[in-house]
Amino acid sequence: MAWKTIVAATDGSERSIAATQFAANLARESGAKLHVVTVVRPPEGWWGIEGAPPPPRAMSEAVVDARQSILDVTMSKLDQIDLDVTTALEVGEPSGTIVKYCEDVEADLLVLGRRGAGFIERFVMGSVADRLAHYSPCPILIIP
Ligand SMILES: Nc1ncnc2c1ncn2[C@@H]1O[C@H](COP(=O)(O)OP(=O)(O)O)[C@@H](O)[C@H]1O
Ligand SMILES: [Mg+2]
Repeated sequence: MAWKTIVAATDGSERSIAATQFAANLARESGAKLHVVTVVRPPEGWWGIEGAPPPPRAMSEAVVDARQSILDVTMSKLDQIDLDVTTALEVGEPSGTIVKYCEDVEADLLVLGRRGAGFIERFVMGSVADRLAHYSPCPILIIP
């Protein structure tokens, strides 16, 4: 099976960076396009208001900067030689936003870490990995 479009989800954690590196190697071997995606969770007050989350420019610069640096750190640890790669900074609830992103780019593989940067969040919100295992629109690879 030759992958055509691979999505890697990063939250800046060590495991998600390892997952992105794994995805990059797969993409290089199969000549696939790689999308490295990170999702900014909007501040609590945005939920339920008019459905759609705010565009990045409407959010606190600090929040967006933090996410951009997550993307930068992830990319700086990636061997980009012979790699066709795009980065994306999306806003919303992480798992649902990643599902939508995979649909939009017609991903045929989603790669993520088993755990991420959260700890308390895992008990409060449930795990992004868990939700994606249930709702991913394409095959999913979870890197331990
Ligand atoms: N906001 C996010 N943006 C992009 N990917 C994410 C995000 N949060 C989690 N992920 C992906 O999901 C994996 C599992 O993270 P998660 O389920 O949130 O575990 P934890 O509860 O330990 O933070 C991460 O390694 C990363 O690949
Ligand atoms: Mg998390």
